[in-house]
Amino acid sequence: MVNIGLLGLGTVGSGVVEILDKRKEKLKGLTGHDIRIKKVLVNDSSKKRKLDPEIELVLDFDEILHDEEISIIVEVTGDVENSYKYISQGLKAGKNIVTANKAVVSKYFEEFSALAKEKDLAFLYEASVAGGIPVLKPLKEQLLLNEVSQVQGILNGTCNYILSRMIDEGKNYHDILKSAQDMGYAEADPTADVDGIDTMRKLRILATLSLQGKINEEDIFMDGISSITSFDIEVIKKMNSTVKLIGEAKSYKDGFTAVVQPTIVPRDNYFANVNLAHNSVAFNGSEVGELKFYGPGAGKLPTGNAVLSDVLDIVTKTYKKNNPLGTAELKNYNHEIKGRYYLRVSDADDNIVRSLRRISEEMPSNKGQVAIITNEIGLMEIKDLLDSLNIEKGRYFLGRILD
Ligand code: NAP
Ligand code: HSE
Repeated sequence: MVNIGLLGLGTVGSGVVEILDKRKEKLKGLTGHDIRIKKVLVNDSSKKRKLDPEIELVLDFDEILHDEEISIIVEVTGDVENSYKYISQGLKAGKNIVTANKAVVSKYFEEFSALAKEKDLAFLYEASVAGGIPVLKPLKEQLLLNEVSQVQGILNGTCNYILSRMIDEGKNYHDILKSAQDMGYAEADPTADVDGIDTMRKLRILATLSLQGKINEEDIFMDGISSITSFDIEVIKKMNSTVKLIGEAKSYKDGFTAVVQPTIVPRDNYFANVNLAHNSVAFNGSEVGELKFYGPGAGKLPTGNAVLSDVLDIVTKTYKKNNPLGTAELKNYNHEIKGRYYLRVSDADDNIVRSLRRISEEMPSNKGQVAIITNEIGLMEIKDLLDSLNIEKGRYFLGRILD
């Protein structure tokens, strides 16, 4: 018997329970193990829940930590500081860990990886990046044979769902965000999704693995989609393009560049056809070339499925035991990033219009919204210009143009 202690019974936790319940007998035949959830930790005891009476609901983590029959802790709470405690105490107590919580993985990646190595235990986090898509396991496998020089992707289901429906259906931003929340895609605080924070955390995990050196959260240039307007959508459509929130990290000189930003993608580009809550991750290996992964980036069953794939790797002892994190010292070259950009500013006065004209031709404007397309220019040059003109975050939308 393999006993699991499940932390959290929200969207992902209930997906884990549902799939395991459905596949229990089959898994017993396939793995030779009876895998069951023994205890579930939640916050609120008053919530009505449908749960197999054999699964014990607990409010105190110690009841899982000190249960010697539990060998695997599955952490799907979304809480950062408590889950840091759950994961580190769990590893110290000899429990294998599976988590979908990219916020805690991103913040404590090196510490958890080192602790798991020291204790000879599993620390697996497939569901933390790109929801249901199995991408971290193949990436770790390819890293044994390849140097990976670039990783990029659409990594947030909520943002992709919002942008796809704004472009294709002309829907209102706030209505679609509400619908993404109802579907269980968004984080408890959706600003983490729409401001690019969730994508930045996923890129931090992907980039640190891919480039084999520590790339911190604050090393990543980050912009989100929350200021996009229907005016931007109309202009982007006229460019025969669509818009995606893309995270990208690349080897550059003796270091890297790493950015999360809205990207204007021509209709015939691969990423233009990754729609709704789907995600896609592409990486380049020195031997294998470019690999692309595509699938559901969020949601109860796809994410529950990714969590359980990690559980099965522990049960069948097929997970990679080596510490996959590298020790390269990498310099940050984000200040050298250049590109062509679409920039729209609202409530633009004459001074702003004059300043924008210096870097580009002005485009058609509407109700005080003025938009430009730049020639090749440094990303930081644009950010500095916006700062010097005191144009705060909600008043502009900046998108890199993918040629
Ligand atoms: P959720 O629906 O908000 O559920 C969170 C669950 O955790 C709830 O059952 C809550 O208890 C419990 N919880 C929260 N804080 C807790 C604490 N300190 N101690 C014990 N229990 C606690 O969240 P979710 O959407 O399932 O997401 C869970 C994690 O998976 C997050 O890290 C998220 O980023 C990640 N993730 C989500 C998706 C997705 O599609 N939703 C995809 C990939 C990864 P109560 O029920 O008592 O409130
Ligand atoms: N909130 C996240 C998203 C969940 O929308 O992509 C999956 O990580």
